[in-house]
Amino acid sequence: MPVQATIIGSQDRKLDELVRASGLRPTVASAVDLLTLTHPNSVQPDVLIMDVRPHGQIPTALSVLKRQHPTTSVILVASELAPALMLDAMRAGVNECVAEPLTAEQIGAAIGRIVAQRTAPVGGQVFAFVGAKGGVGTTTLAVNVATALALSDESTLFIDMHAAYGDAAVLLGTEPRFSLVDALENTHRLDLAFFNGLTVQSEAGVALLASSDHAPTSPIDVHRIRLLLDFAVRNYRYTVLDLPRSNPAMMDALEAAADIIVVTNQELASVRGASRVTGALSRRYGREKVSVVVSRFDKSADIGSSDIEQAVHAPPRFTFPSDYRLALQALNAGRPFVLDSSSKLASAVLTFTRTLNGDAGPEPAPSAPGALRTRLGARLGALRWMTS
Ligand SMILES: Nc1ncnc2c1ncn2[C@@H]1O[C@H](COP(=O)(O)OP(=O)(O)OP(=O)(O)O)[C@@H](O)[C@H]1O
Ligand SMILES: [Mg+2]
Repeated sequence: MPVQATIIGSQDRKLDELVRASGLRPTVASAVDLLTLTHPNSVQPDVLIMDVRPHGQIPTALSVLKRQHPTTSVILVASELAPALMLDAMRAGVNECVAEPLTAEQIGAAIGRIVAQRTAPVGGQVFAFVGAKGGVGTTTLAVNVATALALSDESTLFIDMHAAYGDAAVLLGTEPRFSLVDALENTHRLDLAFFNGLTVQSEAGVALLASSDHAPTSPIDVHRIRLLLDFAVRNYRYTVLDLPRSNPAMMDALEAAADIIVVTNQELASVRGASRVTGALSRRYGREKVSVVVSRFDKSADIGSSDIEQAVHAPPRFTFPSDYRLALQALNAGRPFVLDSSSKLASAVLTFTRTLNGDAGPEPAPSAPGALRTRLGARLGALRWMTS
């Protein structure tokens, strides 16, 4: 069936032409028609192309429309991807954002991703985060990504896969009564009603299955983890996992994960860890599922992106700036920073989250610094030798 597209709020003939160039025959409607489309009985286009360039704001009617008609896909056309606008767009449930300068390729790619999503089989996506080393910022990143995913009103589950003493509950500002261990002990009775009782909701609507505050009495069974993840895929649009790299059972049960994201920073020990972890996970699940991101990225650090690329045999997928004060403040307040900060760090997490839903292309890898490379060269060289 042909995809029906409607352009709203635009006087720009060029936009109409660019949409036509991607093979669609859009109708053009006025901003007033958006209100008509919010009506529960109104016939919906498959794709709504919302041009906010004249005023730079998301109309409130758009959130109403997405609540009434969640299957209507929305492409936002903006002058620029300002962090505040992106946050509002996510909250309103926008699927794709494109910005000036508009090109046929950019619009065609956005429409292509929407069409692919509309025809994809039903089933949630699982994103697994694992640290290359302790303390690199894995939980901070996973919690903020999950919160950003939940802002789009899609059901989002966070599983703290640390059998005991994980931190996600603190970062999400929740007080869980039950834990992962309870879920794994009861895989025979996993249904939504039972499972809802085990999870706790964060302020942004992330359902958290928390880590236990005491060590499990028996070893974690891989088969039970698989059952839990299968349940998550069937019942939640997005599942985010915070994985302990030291637990082999957890690392062995990730078939359901679409994306396994190894978090590193620019310390030699972390890069070594990233190399080992990505190697093992790529062999187990395939290279295409595994990627490396850099937390607290410093472009003048001794170890640069190209060094990390050499060690893990792929360029870093994304880099996140350092902002210790913000990260700590959010941790202490139990409120993920993507909720109210327009900082570079929050903005980076929002952009990265959009790449996970298939909303944007990858970030270009930053260029490597030249300084001190020689001094580190020998040690990194040894690492490359170890991992090749
Ligand atoms: N982008 C960042 N910039 C600066 N500090 C950060 C950043 N991300 C996280 N942090 C800080 O780093 C510390 C460790 O973060 P976090 O607990 O997320 O790491 P982790 O890898 O999950 O650690 P663990 O191995 O203990 O589970 C925290 O104090 C956090 O506030
Ligand atoms: Mg952690």
